[in-house]
Amino acid sequence: MPARNAYQLIHDSLKFDGEPTLNCATFLTTWMEPEAEKLIMENLGKNRVDIDEYEATERIHRRCLAHLHDLWNGKKGQEATGTVVVGSSEGIMLGGLAMKWRWRQRRQAEGKDTSKPNIVFGANAQVALEKTARYFDIESRLVPVSPESHYCLDTQKALEMIDENTIGMFVILGSTYTGHYEDVIEMSRLLEKLKAEKGLDIPIHVDGASGAFVAPFAHPDLHWDFRVPHVVSISTSGHKFGLTYPGIGWVVWRAPEYLPDGLTFELSYLGGVEKTFTLNFSHPACFMLAQYYQFIRFGREGYARVMNACLYHARLLSVALEATGVYQCISDIHRPRGTYGYSEETRLAASGLFAETLNNPCSGADPTPNEKFNFGLPEVAFRFTDWFIEQHPKANQDVVTTLMRVRGWIIPNYPLPPDANRLRVMRVVIKEASSEDFVNRLVRDLMWATQTMLDTQSQSLGEALSTPLPKNTSTSNLAHSIAQSNTSTMSDGQKHSHWKDILDKIGELKGSERGKNQQPEMKLVDGGRRKTVYEKSC
Ligand SMILES: Cc1ncc(COP(=O)(O)O)c(C=O)c1O
Repeated sequence: MPARNAYQLIHDSLKFDGEPTLNCATFLTTWMEPEAEKLIMENLGKNRVDIDEYEATERIHRRCLAHLHDLWNGKKGQEATGTVVVGSSEGIMLGGLAMKWRWRQRRQAEGKDTSKPNIVFGANAQVALEKTARYFDIESRLVPVSPESHYCLDTQKALEMIDENTIGMFVILGSTYTGHYEDVIEMSRLLEKLKAEKGLDIPIHVDGASGAFVAPFAHPDLHWDFRVPHVVSISTSGHKFGLTYPGIGWVVWRAPEYLPDGLTFELSYLGGVEKTFTLNFSHPACFMLAQYYQFIRFGREGYARVMNACLYHARLLSVALEATGVYQCISDIHRPRGTYGYSEETRLAASGLFAETLNNPCSGADPTPNEKFNFGLPEVAFRFTDWFIEQHPKANQDVVTTLMRVRGWIIPNYPLPPDANRLRVMRVVIKEASSEDFVNRLVRDLMWATQTMLDTQSQSLGEALSTPLPKNTSTSNLAHSIAQSNTSTMSDGQKHSHWKDILDKIGELKGSERGKNQQPEMKLVDGGRRKTVYEKSC
């Protein structure tokens, strides 16, 4: 195929993708400056691991690691132990593997059984955590979540799940579902107590996929990093609030002894010896260079400005949504510190506090305004209020998000984690590219979608959209059979029965599940993007 045609074919087919800037579902960076893009283009062909050939690139890699070691309060004067990875998932897997190896070495030295390792983390975990456990033969011990634990790790319940076979814990800084930070310092305190009482020394790997680039700037006094005694490693996604295009992530260990030698391979490069401990060997250098561009371009002050602005816009959206009476937030970043959950009282307290910050909306690099609000990511998770559901029992959040797609917005509507999954929430991640205008348009369109849903409900639109297609019948199969039928060679009678067959099939699709009131099963895939069963089968 000529190059021009190949290009055009792919280019045209991608027109069916959503618009990244309006993709409120993703945590990933959707925009970078032209200079960063130039750097990326100039270095597209470089493999990061060819350190002998690309020695200057390797120096930048080491510099990035040094910045992160410093940002996360690693020991002063100590060289950073870590690596660039393709995303948080790889960093989490390496952190989990290192904990498993250290546990096994210790048990072997004590002559104890090493066949049943387990790892403890909240049921709100992103799939990368469960993958780590399953891929590396570690039992996952999922701590149930509840409204009381703010839909994330319940530290006391976690403690009860730990035993001598626990290799460590994953603690999440910035729950994917609601943006709440898990309480790393409290978990460490409980583990310290456990150590004193039972002699079990349990390490923590912090999954800071989003939060490890938010907290240091927006909540610098919060201790969640290497200042916390049990934290042995931290991973993050450079492509989320690290403000770099996908795929880049980082993992850093507290000190070299927390990365067992057995995980490291030594390679000889023209006289030098290089250590490698990533899951994938080859890796694009260009996004790491773009990450370094962001580090030197923004500096600490620039990152703080971005994170504060994101939090401000997320709070504006939260307060506006709750003011409608139609929506309530499950996320709590807009509420006064220590106040959780929605009620008329907490709503008023939140909007009152927010009004105080209006005089100084985006506080620049100064994190002080954040001190009055709860910790958390610039993420708004929301649902219909109970009052609204009482007034409109047929109201359906799926209809609202589907209508929002008409205006280009991509907003997921997904069940909360196990034990709280009766509730479905919509989620908007506020990123660097958002603004007050963005929030205004979002709220306006959301109210338009809600009103349209109500207007059309008399025609049962809500019911129709919540009716899934039968599992074995995909819309593409139907389209296929229509497309493949060659009616030109058919007699009139044949044509008639052919089209009748197809119409019956469509009728079956529409009618077969009606009345069961089933919701399509939702899955969180990649940063929470949703896929329904029937999307998957198409
Ligand atoms: C808390 C958390 N951990 C891990 C991940 C996986 O990150 P990545 O896509 O960079 O592998 C995500 C992605 O959304 C996340 O939110």
